[in-house]
Amino acid sequence: MNADTRREFRIAVLGGDGIGPEVTSAAVQVLQAVGKFQFSEYLVGGAALKATGEPLPAETLRGCLSANAILLGAVGSPEFDKNPPAKKPETALLQLRKACNAFANLRPAMLHDPLISASPLRADVVQGTDVFIVRELTGGLYFAEPRGFQGADAAFNTMRYSREEIRRIANIAFAAARKRRKKLHSIDKANVLETSQLWRKVVSEISADFPDVQLQHMYVDNCAMQLVSNPRQFDVILTENLFGDILSDEAAMLTGSIGMLPSASIGGSNGIYEPVHGSAPDIAGKGIANPLAAIASAALMLRYSFELERESTAIETAIAATLQQGFRTQDIYRGEGKLVSTGEMTAAVLRSL
Ligand code: IPM
Ligand code: MG
Repeated sequence: MNADTRREFRIAVLGGDGIGPEVTSAAVQVLQAVGKFQFSEYLVGGAALKATGEPLPAETLRGCLSANAILLGAVGSPEFDKNPPAKKPETALLQLRKACNAFANLRPAMLHDPLISASPLRADVVQGTDVFIVRELTGGLYFAEPRGFQGADAAFNTMRYSREEIRRIANIAFAAARKRRKKLHSIDKANVLETSQLWRKVVSEISADFPDVQLQHMYVDNCAMQLVSNPRQFDVILTENLFGDILSDEAAMLTGSIGMLPSASIGGSNGIYEPVHGSAPDIAGKGIANPLAAIASAALMLRYSFELERESTAIETAIAATLQQGFRTQDIYRGEGKLVSTGEMTAAVLRSL
């Protein structure tokens, strides 16, 4: 299989911390197997802090902005937990999202049938779960000003959304629903928050442009409950930044392991593709991390940044086949199948391609 050779595909690779470098290197191997890409590596997160004193060095940011897409591993390391916000590894992620204007975070949470026993939910409840979370990523409590400490005994953040911020993310969610099962749940807290009341109003207005998509508004606390009691009812979930952060971890776990979930952060000039899981410092360097989320993130890159749908689907099919063949990293191993390392799992995906 060969990616379109007339186009240029330059990928910035930011392995980051913990298991980040191991899983991104797995994803790079898989990308190399389906096409011709140019990779440039940059420091990010704790690794960058150690080398340069900054979580997102200028060189990394320049490299990312001049690439066509960004493949990120994970950031975060306990040794920096006590650092002030500007010197925390996680800050790199937030700065990068903002700099790329990556306002739309897509997090597909699909339960592969062979992994049903790895899900904490009963098979009859969880079987067939296939949720596509569209999380607003550059607004809300994460970014709005003012914010800060008020002396030592108080602190505050601002929850703010503009009509335009809601409109653009809603459009992406409706368009995604149109390509799927045509159901959209918009999640808010409109019984309490003004931002949610505006959210509900704007989303309802936009639904007029998508008459084929069935829209349902739901409160976030109810959604958290419904995700574990009846996850199959959901197709696309649209929500703001913090609610999406929480709900996507919950949805991820339904699929057996957060080690399975990819994400795409798009909307601006170049997309950021990263596994939903963190840096998992406890298992870093042991070669046992699950590379499938990073590999699936690479598949999303091919789809959303490069429009290489055929290659993207080939990777997703290879992941499904590998699970079908019984290969399991420790996070999804439940006594059945073959317990494998990061490298063996990657090799199995490469063989299935
Ligand atoms: C995520 C992470 C980040 C977030 C952290 C690491 C800043 O939890 O991507 O979901 O809160 O967005
Ligand atoms: Mg999160």
